[in-house]
Amino acid sequence: MKVTVHRKAHFNAAHRLYRKDFTDDENAKTFGKCSNPNYHGHNYELIVGVTGEIDPKTGFVMDMKVLKDLIYNEIEQAFDHKNLNVEVPEFKDRNPTAENIAVVIWNKLRKHIEKELELEVVLYETPRNFVTYKGV
Ligand code: NI
Repeated sequence: MKVTVHRKAHFNAAHRLYRKDFTDDENAKTFGKCSNPNYHGHNYELIVGVTGEIDPKTGFVMDMKVLKDLIYNEIEQAFDHKNLNVEVPEFKDRNPTAENIAVVIWNKLRKHIEKELELEVVLYETPRNFVTYKGV
C-alpha cells in the first residue's frame, strides 16, 4: 500500500526566456511576454509529492517537518526573490521555463530523499499554467 504526502510552497522570482542567438523579434515570437528583455516576475506555487509505504513505527511516509525544511533550504532559499537567469547557477545557460525549473527542483530534492520513496514536483507558473515532473 503506497500513500502520497504533499507539501505546498511558494516563491516569487524573476526570469527572462530567450536565446542569445535569436533577434529580439525572434525571441518575442517564440517566448512572448516572457522574453521581455527587462525581466518580469511570477508567483510560483510548488507542490512536492512523496510516495511510499507507511512506516509502521511512525505512521509516516515521510516526516512532513523534514520535507518542509528541505523545500525551504534547497528551493525557497535558492529561488525566492531571485532573478533566476542571473542569480541561480542552474539557469546561467538554460532557459528558466516552468519545465526546466521543475526539473532543477526535482534534482535538488531527489538527493535528500530516501531512495525507496518516489518524488513528484508540480510547479505552477501562473494559476492556470503548471508542469509536473516525476524524474522519468
Ligand atoms: Ni515569464
